[in-house]
Amino acid sequence: MSHIQIPAGLTELLQGYTVEVLRQQPPDLVEFAVDYFTRLREARAEAACPPAAPAAPAAGLHEPGPAPAADGDGDGDSEEEAELEIPIPSRYNRRVSVCAEAYNPDEEEEDTDPRVIHPKSDEQRCRLQEACKDILLFKNLDQEQLSEVLDAMFERIVKVEEHVIDQGDDGDNFYVIERGTYDILVTKDNQTRSVGQYNNRGSFGELALMYNTPRAATIVATSEGSLWGLDRVTFRRIIVKNNAKKRKMFESFIESVPLLKSLEVSERMKIVDVIGEKIYKDGERIITQTKTNKEGANQEVEIARCRKGQYFGELALVTNKPRAASAYAVGDVKCLVMDVQAFERLLGPCMDIMKRNISHYEEQLVKMFGSSLDLIDPGQ
Ligand code: CMP
Repeated sequence: MSHIQIPAGLTELLQGYTVEVLRQQPPDLVEFAVDYFTRLREARAEAACPPAAPAAPAAGLHEPGPAPAADGDGDGDSEEEAELEIPIPSRYNRRVSVCAEAYNPDEEEEDTDPRVIHPKSDEQRCRLQEACKDILLFKNLDQEQLSEVLDAMFERIVKVEEHVIDQGDDGDNFYVIERGTYDILVTKDNQTRSVGQYNNRGSFGELALMYNTPRAATIVATSEGSLWGLDRVTFRRIIVKNNAKKRKMFESFIESVPLLKSLEVSERMKIVDVIGEKIYKDGERIITQTKTNKEGANQEVEIARCRKGQYFGELALVTNKPRAASAYAVGDVKCLVMDVQAFERLLGPCMDIMKRNISHYEEQLVKMFGSSLDLIDPGQ
């Protein structure tokens, strides 16, 4: 019987291409293939990318859970302000990347790249761990993956007005903020506008690394600051690969969330890429209402209860007001959480539905208390 030999590397090559097609949903597969394989050849010619340059907040999409709420801190989301309806970064035609590492989401695949390690003092490691503890992209990593990521991270001190990232550049590193404030600037049609800020917490620079696109925004330090960088190769090997697993885990749940039904499949996948899972025990507070001085304000009343597939935490982000209610876990709760920047970037198309639902909160409050809290301005 004749025996057909599969050339070494063919499976991985085609798998890499297929994964990119599924991720980016290009309109023309042949064009995309030409682009993809050309970049792959360029990357190989450059003898692969050099390893390691030494160089926020929460809107919750939850599984089982508590009450529709508006917040004022909770997970630290309200500090960052950003305008709404920012266009979703476009797909493959945005970038001809220098490094187009194909990756194989198959967990069994052997890692051939050398592991990147930036040695750190105990004190540095402590600060790094503290800075990374709420980073959503790290939430689904197992212990080994997380320590590989932490080992690879390096400290970068920035000065006021320093550009950490310039829109349009190739992506080199992902950054976690230890301290400092940063402006997010987007230039479109020759006009640059500020679309938000980071305030001593959060992370940025993941988009170019995840989707092989040019940097989608400019990040400028508005104070002195300290960042922890993670090189592109390690980011792709661990975070992007882990995202393939996350897609498998959360795809069907995300598809069942009524709020997200109007989004395209590729948009829903981008949501899965940025969410992190958070677990709360019975009675634990998930969002904290901002204190008010009104009389009787310390008396808490249950106003609603959320269940699997519903969401909460959007109100303060939509209205730019403090958290208007607290949310508590009823039983053990698992929430899928995204930060305010991702919320604004990805959920613009769902804004009308959210605003409509916010007006129902108002009706609910009128029924319960006889007056509304003016949750949303009539003009908004
Ligand atoms: P990246 O495109 O790699 O580099 C710029 C980063 O800015 C981007 O990843 C995001 O992490 C961050 N960012 C925050 N808000 C926005 C926004 N509205 N549009 C694009 N990028 C944003």
